[in-house]
Amino acid sequence: MAASLLVRGCRRGPAICSGSWRQLHTIYQSAELPETHQMLRQTCQDFAEKELTPIAGQLDKEHRFPGTQIKKMGELGLLAMDVPEEFGGASLDYLAYAIALEEISRGCASSGVIMSVNNSLYLGPILKFGSKQQKQQWISPFTSGDQIGCFALSEPGNGSDAGAASTTARLDGDSWVLNGTKAWITNAWEASAAVVFANHDKSLKHKGITAFLVPMPTPGLSLGKKEDKMGIRASSTASLIFEDCRIPKDSVLGEMGMGFKIAMQTLDMGRIGIAAQALGIAQASLDCAVHYAENRMAFGSPLTKLQNIQFKLADMALALESARLLTWRAAMLKDNRKPFSKEAAMAKLAASEAATRIAHQAIQILGGMGYVTEMPAERHYRDARITEIYEGTSEIQRLVIAGHLLKSYRS
Ligand code: CAA
Repeated sequence: MAASLLVRGCRRGPAICSGSWRQLHTIYQSAELPETHQMLRQTCQDFAEKELTPIAGQLDKEHRFPGTQIKKMGELGLLAMDVPEEFGGASLDYLAYAIALEEISRGCASSGVIMSVNNSLYLGPILKFGSKQQKQQWISPFTSGDQIGCFALSEPGNGSDAGAASTTARLDGDSWVLNGTKAWITNAWEASAAVVFANHDKSLKHKGITAFLVPMPTPGLSLGKKEDKMGIRASSTASLIFEDCRIPKDSVLGEMGMGFKIAMQTLDMGRIGIAAQALGIAQASLDCAVHYAENRMAFGSPLTKLQNIQFKLADMALALESARLLTWRAAMLKDNRKPFSKEAAMAKLAASEAATRIAHQAIQILGGMGYVTEMPAERHYRDARITEIYEGTSEIQRLVIAGHLLKSYRS
């Protein structure tokens, strides 16, 4: 059970699961995180420095899933951070999740996305929409790192247009029969269960989409090839192919026809996670650039004495810190049960674009050394790029933000 070291550690500090606006106030007043979150940050930083940073390059090179490390993360409570203790989770808030995920991703971006998908995309919708019995069955075994889950929404023919899902669900006696292909599924090869979105009545368009809980492996469900990706190569990405795949009638998550809204609300949470992952990658890039610039001599002094390099570092730090504040704000809105869809989109957009820019500039500072695998800068650059694509591209985030903005002017 993941009633974990994190939970025990955080109990020593002040309560953190209530009064998020007080937390925000505290952060602005003291310019630092509450004590409990600082402790959590330190724990995750120590873990990442010891267990992830030293092997991240090798994992990337070998496309190797970090099984041992994911198990340890489960033991720490990092795979089910906001899940209540009664279901085996760490019972922390989303701010804690964002902070932890940033530190894990700073050490290894692949481990970051594995953690993010299990927390936000798999456990998130079950926690929010599942029955008590479904929570016991589909959450508890997925908190400790023994088993992980995945989220199957995109298809080969529709990614951004999620409402156009063409995978079908047909009721046949006591079973649902699923047919179709889901694409770009993170954790597909290691997952023991999936939240799958399928349409039971295409005439209803997005209102015909229902969410299903599917065990893996299961007859009629096969995996596509592991995608050979540019970055986050230690995490698996593959298709799920459903061919007359039968699952019990009670596998529906939430209500029939509610799938699209479940997917959208899940992605609102997920986008906070990806923003945090991007922050971690950006921070790792900045760390690498500063370390290099302090030690590399040019024109008779360390690079950090050059104003041009100082300007670059200042811009990188500014972009990172601004995106971090947006991410924490979105997390705290969620913790305080306020609407956070627009803020999550802003956080993801700002953090992912900052990560790409910062990783780009880090390579610029390292010069040739930034372009070779001897240094991690090129991996950070490759890892950063996906954060502008998955869980909604930057263009989708802009659509979401503009939608909320215009609505607020019209109301
Ligand atoms: N919360 C709740 N309901 C929402 C919502 C939200 N955030 N967003 C939309 N809805 C509701 C609307 O209110 C509307 O409800 P009604 O039908 O009752 O009126 C309904 O959903 C349809 O809304 P839209 O007309 O706005 O829907 P749309 O078809 O125009 O799509 C979109 C909107 C923002 C483009 C959406 O399709 C979207 O987010 N696309 C991106 C999908 C995405 O992020 N995919 C990533 C997949 S996961 C992944 O990356 C893989 C991985 O493993 C990491």
